[in-house]
Amino acid sequence: MTTQPSPLSPQSSVLTPQSSALSTQPSVLNPQPSDLSTQPSALSPPSSTLNPQTSDLSTQPSAPKPQPSVLSSSQSSVLKPQSSVLLTPHSLLITGGAGFIGSNFVHYWIKKYQEDRVVILDALTYAGNPANLEPVANHPQYRFVHGDIRDYDLVVNLLQEEKIDTIVHFAAESHVDRSIHGPDAFVDTNIIGTHTLLKAAKKVWLDRSSEELESSSIAQSSVLSPQSSLCRFHHVSTDEVYGSLGPDDPAFSETTAYAPNSPYAASKAGSDYLVRSYFKTYGLPMTISNCSNNYGPYQFPEKLIPLLILNCLAGESLPIYGDGLNIRDWLHVDDHCRGIDLVLKKGTVGQTYNIGGNCEKTNMEVVEAICRLMDELSPNKDSAPYSSLITHVKDRLGHDRRYAIDANLITSELGYAPTESFETGLRKTVEWYLANQDWCQNIMVGNYREWIEKNYEK
Ligand code: NAD
Ligand code: DAU
Repeated sequence: MTTQPSPLSPQSSVLTPQSSALSTQPSVLNPQPSDLSTQPSALSPPSSTLNPQTSDLSTQPSAPKPQPSVLSSSQSSVLKPQSSVLLTPHSLLITGGAGFIGSNFVHYWIKKYQEDRVVILDALTYAGNPANLEPVANHPQYRFVHGDIRDYDLVVNLLQEEKIDTIVHFAAESHVDRSIHGPDAFVDTNIIGTHTLLKAAKKVWLDRSSEELESSSIAQSSVLSPQSSLCRFHHVSTDEVYGSLGPDDPAFSETTAYAPNSPYAASKAGSDYLVRSYFKTYGLPMTISNCSNNYGPYQFPEKLIPLLILNCLAGESLPIYGDGLNIRDWLHVDDHCRGIDLVLKKGTVGQTYNIGGNCEKTNMEVVEAICRLMDELSPNKDSAPYSSLITHVKDRLGHDRRYAIDANLITSELGYAPTESFETGLRKTVEWYLANQDWCQNIMVGNYREWIEKNYEK
């Protein structure tokens, strides 16, 4: 593991604007677990005890925090999603922050919540790219840690050292086609990795050492402390866990049964279940979001939209699997970030939220829209339309036919609505790739070339 030194945290000695609001907000978890499903809590300790960041990060070794006890299994069985929580995250661990959505989320968060500490943990696999974070790398609250989510000791140390109160978990193997060629990495990272993070969060946020248990007067009372009530494990998941829809099926809602079809989707489903189980069994405060297809800046060009843009530029064929009539729901990545923000700030602990763009398109519609934009913004030298490059190729194994998201819950409960239409979002995305040719060239080497040859049998 290599880490950049942790810069002094200016906010660490003072209450952040967010944290000062805590004393006026109802607390998150009830003192009595048996009341969890019915009763809003009134816990409102002084804000100075609520902010786990009041010590100086640069000089103080990770001080053991007062820890609550873990719920017994009989008590935990009553845990249900709870009424709305106003969480005030101020020290975030963002896993997979050097990837596509993770890096966009880091940009989004640092711009919006300048006081918050943002610690990124990323293994820098082929999909992780430090260049995605360059624009924010000098921010005083930014720290990048090159490491693996499967490294339990590293994660525990980071949670303690940085007094992390919010984990936003993006890190994953994320490409369906790669999961078909090699599923092992998907099980390792998406299932084992997520479980390692959960174990570490439980250890640091919920467990007491046996010594503390013996000496504490509240040891047997199963009271969740203010600290645990202010923590959140947010798991970023996918609509692919729900499987494939027929043309007239209703869109996926939060109660749609899981039916994952690819090894990628199955590994994400497994991780979702583990996250849920840590809430139900141990009371780990968590939320999950299942989102549809994202597009936008910094997306690795193995995924459909950037692949097509860059193939247009290179004058290469535009490979469309099968008949090209598979349907995806497309969402600009900024709108996904907004959705996660809402879930963190206003979401119900223990709840899953579907996030979507209400924007179903066939792959043929997507490729044709990209070709039109490219014809306008970067016309082919010989004036031939880019659509002449469209080539139907062998279909993806087990290719899901249609995804669609019912986003009524996040819309009605949290006021979510995407701000970017497919037309405006796609235009911005094409413009971004055209303006960032160096970024593209730097990653279209080595592993990328090997992957293209393997997947498209070139
Ligand atoms: P990505 O492949 O672009 O990035 C994944 C990141 O995780 C990379 O930076 C990589 O280095 C890092 N990583 C991988 N294994 C790691 C490990 N063991 N330890 C630490 N870091 C590791 O992925 P993305 O498209 O940005 O997706 C992010 C998350 O969002 C994933 O969990 C994915 O399932 C989910 N998601 C993606 C989409 C989408 O359309 N891309 C839609 C819905 C949900
Ligand atoms: O739905 C959310 C999911 O969206 C995320 O969980 C995944 O991480 C993300 O990769 C994405 O999965 P898809 O498989 O839907 O995305 P992809 O861009 O790989 O493919 C989109 C569609 O385009 C799909 O129907 C397959 C098709 N396709 C893809 C590629 C790469 C092609 O026709 N040709 C291609 O070359």
